[in-house]
Amino acid sequence: MGRLVAVSVLGIALALLGERLLALRNRLKASREIESVDLPNCHLIKGIEAGSEDIDILPNGLAFFSVGLKCPGLHSFAPDKPGGILMMDLKEERPRALELRISRGFDLASFNPHGISTFIDDDDTIYLFVVNHPEFKNTVEIFKFEEEENSLLHLKTIRHELLPSVNDVIAVGPAHFYATNDHYFSDPFLKYLETYLNLHWANVIYYSPNEVKVVADGFDSANGINISPDKKSALCAHPQTECLLPYPLPPPWYIYVADILAHEIHVLDKHSNMNLTQLKVLQLDTLVDNLSVDPSSGDIWAGCHPNGQKVYVYDPNNPPSSEVLRIQNILSEKPTVTTVYANNGSVLQGSSVASVYDGKLLIGTLYHRALYCEL
Ligand SMILES: *[C@@H]1O[C@H](CO)[C@@H](O)[C@H](O)[C@H]1NC(C)=O
Ligand SMILES: *[C@@H]1O[C@H](CO)[C@@H](O)[C@H](O)[C@H]1NC(C)=O
Repeated sequence: MGRLVAVSVLGIALALLGERLLALRNRLKASREIESVDLPNCHLIKGIEAGSEDIDILPNGLAFFSVGLKCPGLHSFAPDKPGGILMMDLKEERPRALELRISRGFDLASFNPHGISTFIDDDDTIYLFVVNHPEFKNTVEIFKFEEEENSLLHLKTIRHELLPSVNDVIAVGPAHFYATNDHYFSDPFLKYLETYLNLHWANVIYYSPNEVKVVADGFDSANGINISPDKKSALCAHPQTECLLPYPLPPPWYIYVADILAHEIHVLDKHSNMNLTQLKVLQLDTLVDNLSVDPSSGDIWAGCHPNGQKVYVYDPNNPPSSEVLRIQNILSEKPTVTTVYANNGSVLQGSSVASVYDGKLLIGTLYHRALYCEL
């Protein structure tokens, strides 16, 4: 009898694990292939060979790239090279990527940048927020960008127990940001288990010097985060007021979060206490990684992985594809979703972000190269 019970329990456990495994294959879109969509005027950017995880573009056309991300279990073409921040001036006729110098005192050898975000203060100071994983730990670094010297002055390292597995940030003040945790746990084994069991424990955090809190949760794996345009004019409109409570707040002002394994983009409404409530969820047929917003139109651009399994289990003979989606009118009943670019990995592998500026498109990848296109 005891044996029968044991066998039944084992059977149920195996069935459950099998179900979770199948579900995981679905969440990874393991069997999806894509049709290629070409863009005519593109070239690979010189100097980016080992990932350009995240890209943020300033209103003046200066684009920042975080390069060289390393994560346990993720392929790297340059495992021994520290990461860095590159910059490209999109107003130039033939823009080139150059590496920014970083001030002394900051530990460059362990620099492992992930999501990035810029913020411009009233006095035109430009801050660059960088998610960093020194020795696979989790911090947010705040730098001041010094344009004359092409350099970054390190101001501050932020660590917090509510930032156990931080993935991306969107800066909303000089020391204020929203950040996504892609996992609840920071331990690699517990992260795997969490993903496997599909716990939906990932969340979004609001951080300010006075207050740090969970503002949205229940994500499978919260990834890219961004904000609708005009945040920069909306926030810190009064130099003396705390940027915490932006004022006045022009109406549409939303936070977008990509839930990568759930294939979703969430639109969240922001309240004056910085809490978020969900307005809508857009379901897509791909793993949505990073989001950027076209400041002129409000369109969302997403770097996506059509087949997540190929991203995580790297095979040079069957590399991960790239896919860039443009989403127009996300709040309408029928948002328009267009595949602007798709490639089977022969040119670009594992696109993680797409960002536009004045008719130019930059596409970054998790660990491969980066593409510059004229639209
Ligand atoms: C970009 O994609 C990577 C890939 O997972 C993610 O970790 C990172 O946070 C994303 N960054 C942004 C700005 O969305
Ligand atoms: C990708 O597509 C190109 C043609 O566009 C083809 O030559 C190549 O074999 C394909 N590669 C893979 C891995 O499917």
